[in-house]
Amino acid sequence: MRRNLVVGNWKMKINQQSAQKLIGEIIAGLPSEDADIVVCPPYVYIPEVSQRLEGTTIGLGAQNVATHSEGAYTGEIAAVMLKDFSCKYAIVGHSERRANYADTDETVAQRFKQALDADIIPVLAIGELLEEREQGVTFDVVAKQLNAVIDFAGIDSFQNAVIAYEPVWAIGTGLTASAEQAQEVHQYIRQLLAGKNQQIAEKIQILYGGSVKPQNAQALFAMPDIDGALVGGDSLNADSFLKIYSSFQK
Ligand code: PGA
Repeated sequence: MRRNLVVGNWKMKINQQSAQKLIGEIIAGLPSEDADIVVCPPYVYIPEVSQRLEGTTIGLGAQNVATHSEGAYTGEIAAVMLKDFSCKYAIVGHSERRANYADTDETVAQRFKQALDADIIPVLAIGELLEEREQGVTFDVVAKQLNAVIDFAGIDSFQNAVIAYEPVWAIGTGLTASAEQAQEVHQYIRQLLAGKNQQIAEKIQILYGGSVKPQNAQALFAMPDIDGALVGGDSLNADSFLKIYSSFQK
C-alpha cells in the first residue's frame, strides 16, 4: 500500500518573516503522528526552516538542485550542500524551470541523478502545455520527459524517487485537471514504469500538482493512481495546506 505525500512548493513567494510564521503554523497544526508532508522553501531559508523542523516529522525539500556536485557554477546549489541541512527531497524539472531557466530533459535528468547521489529523493515534475493537451499529445510529452530520466539514471533509480504530474496549464491558473483527467495520466505513467519494472511502478508515489486546493483535494485523492499532491499557492496558507494534507490521509 502506497502512503500519500503532500509537498508544498513555496516558490519565490515568501520572505523571512512570513516563512517563520508559516512553518510555525504548520508545525502547530499538524497531528503528532508520522506526517507525510514536506515543505520546499527558497534556498536561503532552508537553514532556518531546517532548524525549526528538528524533532518534527515534517520533511524538508529544495525547489531545485544543481546539475553538478561541485565546481565553477556561479549561483548554483549542489545536492550535497542541501544534505548538510537535512534536506530529504528536491523538486527537479518544475515547469517554471523548464520554461524560464532553460531546463531540458537532459539537465533535469542530471539534477535527478545529483539528488539521488546525495541521498536526496528527487520529486520529478513532468507535464504537458495546454497546446500539447489540445493536440492530443499529452501521453507522448510525459513519456518523453520520463524516458529521458530513465535512460540517463536507470529505472532502478526510481526506487527512491517521487513523480509529480503537473499539467502546465493548471499551475497557478486556478484551472485544475479534473480528477479523471489526472488519473488517466497517472495511470499511463504507472503503466510506462511497469513496462520496465513492475515492482517500482507499484511502489512509486505519483503526486498531482496544479491548483490543488482544499475544495478539489478529496476528489483527486479518491483516484487509485494519485498518491498525493505538489501544492504551490495553497501551500503558503497553513490552514489550506493542512486541509489538503488531511484530505490525502487514509
Ligand atoms: P499551484 O502550483 O498549486 O500554485 O498551481 C503548483 C506547482 O507549481 O507545483
